[in-house]
Amino acid sequence: MGVLLSTIEETLSGLRIIKAFTAETFFTGKFHRVNEEYRKLMTRLYRKRDLTSPLSEFMGAVVMVIVMFFGGKLVLGTEQQLEPSTFIAFIAIFSQLIPPAKSFSEAYSNVQRGLASVDRINKILDAEITIRDNEKAISIHDFNHSVEYRNVSFAYHKGGTGWVLKNINLKVEKGKTIALVGQSGSGKTTLVDLLPRFYDLEEGEILLDGENIKDYKLNDLRSLMGIVNQESILFNDTIFNNIAFGLSNVSEEDVMNAAKIANAHEFISKMSEGYQSNVGDRGGKLSGGQRQRISIARAILKNPPILILDEATSALDTESERLVQDAITRLMKNRTTLVIAHRLSTIQHADEIIVMQQGEIIERGTHTALLEKAGVYKRLYELQAFV
Ligand SMILES: Nc1ncnc2c1ncn2[C@@H]1O[C@H](COP(=O)(O)OP(=O)(O)O)[C@@H](O)[C@H]1O
Ligand SMILES: [Mg+2]
Repeated sequence: MGVLLSTIEETLSGLRIIKAFTAETFFTGKFHRVNEEYRKLMTRLYRKRDLTSPLSEFMGAVVMVIVMFFGGKLVLGTEQQLEPSTFIAFIAIFSQLIPPAKSFSEAYSNVQRGLASVDRINKILDAEITIRDNEKAISIHDFNHSVEYRNVSFAYHKGGTGWVLKNINLKVEKGKTIALVGQSGSGKTTLVDLLPRFYDLEEGEILLDGENIKDYKLNDLRSLMGIVNQESILFNDTIFNNIAFGLSNVSEEDVMNAAKIANAHEFISKMSEGYQSNVGDRGGKLSGGQRQRISIARAILKNPPILILDEATSALDTESERLVQDAITRLMKNRTTLVIAHRLSTIQHADEIIVMQQGEIIERGTHTALLEKAGVYKRLYELQAFV
């Protein structure tokens, strides 16, 4: 049933791609296969279940026949070893035993079915939470001077050899903007994901105001940060609730101000129900640029001291990119920012640009310094300048 439902869910949500690639027959076939398997399994199950009742009735009857046969012989036989009244009483008591014996078989099949479900449920309930508060975790409510990565190495598979980050040293002073650039797969997203502790470090440490981030309360640490990803994740709810997400007691005015800074107010007001319009599943009723601006408004409203932008504009067309970039520049003002950019033109004013390659920092410096150095950054920059 689980496999069948996930196939249905996947097919329905990927309908657009399936149609575009004319893969309907493939997916219909896949559905039929899974469905057929389910049907066979259920037929086998029902066959057995429906058979248990006639079978146990039959067995009960057989047992009664045997009892009657021997009992009858004892009562009617020449020696009359048994009183007829005793035998009748015995039969009456014995027949009471049969229904509970029958319900054993039913109980057994129910237990089996339950066990199969429990296995799957426990897999989720017992999943170990590996990232949790340290026993003596301290609170933190402000960010004061710096974030520092010290000799950080990281691999997704514990004890594995595939280091995704190798010996990273990086310091971000309060109020500065640090940009990360590099090929896709070079470890930029991994590097910024370590800061809100989406993963814990294998080697090295990350310090926030001089204290290891593992020593802070997880919730406190994360509330210092605002994150805008390439893929803006919206929930099937109103625009208002999507912007005010995770915060309580938010006034309409605050949400509207955040939307204005994010260049989203205009398109929201044009919608028939304004801020109360529903965005659809995963924000499907909005365009990519609109979704992105709403997730920026969300970050603005949260007003975090540290901002993480992971290719926040890469999914956009030039026009909406200009609007979003505009919004981001406003968002970055007076904040400490780690920004990953695919378009180098947007990060020229960063205080430091870090060029990454295969998990290592290969160049660092300001835009002008890196251009003078005529290394990897200059090559990347020139490649883009022609586009
Ligand atoms: N959740 C994950 N599990 C295992 N490997 C991952 C995971 N996420 C990323 N990787 C690997 O880590 C490397 C760096 O990925 P990423 O940090 O996303 O790069 P970038 O953001 O620079 O494109 C890639 O080789 C990728 O295959
Ligand atoms: Mg990435």
